[in-house]
Amino acid sequence: MVKLSKEKLDKVETILDRFPKGQSSLIGALHAIQLEIGYLPEEVQKLVAEKLEIPESTVYGVVTFYNFFRKEPVGKYIITACQGTACHVRGAGSVIEAFEKTLGIKVGHTTPDGKFTLDIARCFGACGLAPVVMVNNDIYGRMSPKKVEEVIAKYRD
Ligand code: FES
Repeated sequence: MVKLSKEKLDKVETILDRFPKGQSSLIGALHAIQLEIGYLPEEVQKLVAEKLEIPESTVYGVVTFYNFFRKEPVGKYIITACQGTACHVRGAGSVIEAFEKTLGIKVGHTTPDGKFTLDIARCFGACGLAPVVMVNNDIYGRMSPKKVEEVIAKYRD
């Protein structure tokens, strides 16, 4: 398990000090922490539970339920596949599956080498190019499972 630096944990504590105790603060606090340090590892979840005085299982449940909360640090390249309606009807599902298979990870996770994180989004406003995938700020339109390896290869080294 990756250990967070003391500096980062201090930042988390400072954020938590801004929130009143109790479950109603949970989602807001988790958002603020993820914005600051990028993800919500177990030690952070424990700290959140302690400071807000709520059960650890509640924090874990919320972090796991919402796929916008991350439990792992993000990779150097974030591959975001659009799952909006236009992309969905044009086969986004099979493109996402191909990314999962090629990278060996599920959506919301990062490859063990820390290189790629696979994520999904609702719409990039580029529906004419559906299905669309973004890798950091690069956009790839008219994606297909066959093009997946080609896109990943550009970022491998
Ligand atoms: S639905 Fe995918 S870009 Fe709009």
